[in-house]
Amino acid sequence: MHEPLVYLNGDFLPLSQARISVLDRGFLFGDGVYEVIPVYGGHPFRLRQHLDRLGDSLRGIRLEPPFGHDEWERIAAGLLDGREADQSLYLQITRGAAGNRDHAFPVAVTPTVFAMASPIPSPNTEKLQKGIAVVTLDDVRWQLCHIKSITLLANVLLRQQATDEGCDEAILIRDGQATEGTVSNLFIVKDGLILTPPKSHHLLPGITRDLVLELAASANLPCAEALIGLPDLESADEIWLTSSTREVMAVTTLNGRAVSDGTPGPLWRRMIQLYQACKERLRTGADY
Ligand code: PDD
Repeated sequence: MHEPLVYLNGDFLPLSQARISVLDRGFLFGDGVYEVIPVYGGHPFRLRQHLDRLGDSLRGIRLEPPFGHDEWERIAAGLLDGREADQSLYLQITRGAAGNRDHAFPVAVTPTVFAMASPIPSPNTEKLQKGIAVVTLDDVRWQLCHIKSITLLANVLLRQQATDEGCDEAILIRDGQATEGTVSNLFIVKDGLILTPPKSHHLLPGITRDLVLELAASANLPCAEALIGLPDLESADEIWLTSSTREVMAVTTLNGRAVSDGTPGPLWRRMIQLYQACKERLRTGADY
C-alpha cells in the first residue's frame, strides 16, 4: 500500500518524509492556526467558508495568508486525488522556524504550511442513536476562542477531564454562560425554539453551526441566537453539539442526569435528516 501523501511548504511527499524544524514556532509556542474540512464524495464541505475562517484566524494572529483560495483548492485536489472514502482535510500554518527561541515575532521568517487528508471514521451509530453524555466544566481557555488556534492545551485538558468522567464532551461555562464544547458548538431547544449562543471571542464561529441555523431557517424551524445560562442548559428540552467531523450530536445526559426522557429529541431527528440530505446533495457535486 502506498503511503499517503501530505503537503508541506510547496511539496507533496509521503507522510514519513515530511519534516519540520524543532525551532518551528508551532512546535515551541503553539504559534499557528488550523482548519478541519470534511470531504464527502470528493467534494469539500463549505470550502470557501472554511478558507475564509482560516483567513480570519491568520489575521487574528497577525500572520499574512501565504496564498489565496485557488492555491488551497489546488492543494486539496492534490491530497484528495484517488481517495474514495470520506476524508477530513487538515490545514495548518505556523509562523515558521526562526533561528532561536524568542517569543516576539521573528523578522522575515517564512511560515510553515502543512496539509493532510485522512479518512473520516465512520459515525458511531450507537452514539448517534442514543445520544452522548456531557459534563459542564469551567471554561478556563483564553479570551480569543474565535481564532482557530493550534494552541489547544486547555481544550485537550478539558476534553480529557470529560473522558475521565465517562463523558464524550464537556460544555464549557464562562461567567455563568455556556459557550461551546471543547471541540464543538452548542445548541439547545426550549419550547420548540432552537437557540445557540451568539458569536463572540468566547467561541469558535463553527461552519456547522452556521449551516444548522440556515437549515433550521429554511425548514421554518424557529431559531435564534441567545445567551444560554447554566439554568437554561439544565432545563433544556434538547441539547445538540455540532462540528465538521461529528456533525450534529444529541446530548442525552448532562452532568449525570437525563436530558428530557434521555433519548434524542424530535427536533434533533428533523435536523439530522436535513443535515444528511445536505451531505448527499454535496456528494452529487451541488454547492454546499
Ligand atoms: N473543531 N468549537 C471548537 C472549540 C472546535 O474545535 C470546533 C471544531 C467547533 C466546530 O466548528 P466546525 O463546525 O467549523 O467544525 C467549535 C475541529 C473539528 C477540530 O478541532 O478537530
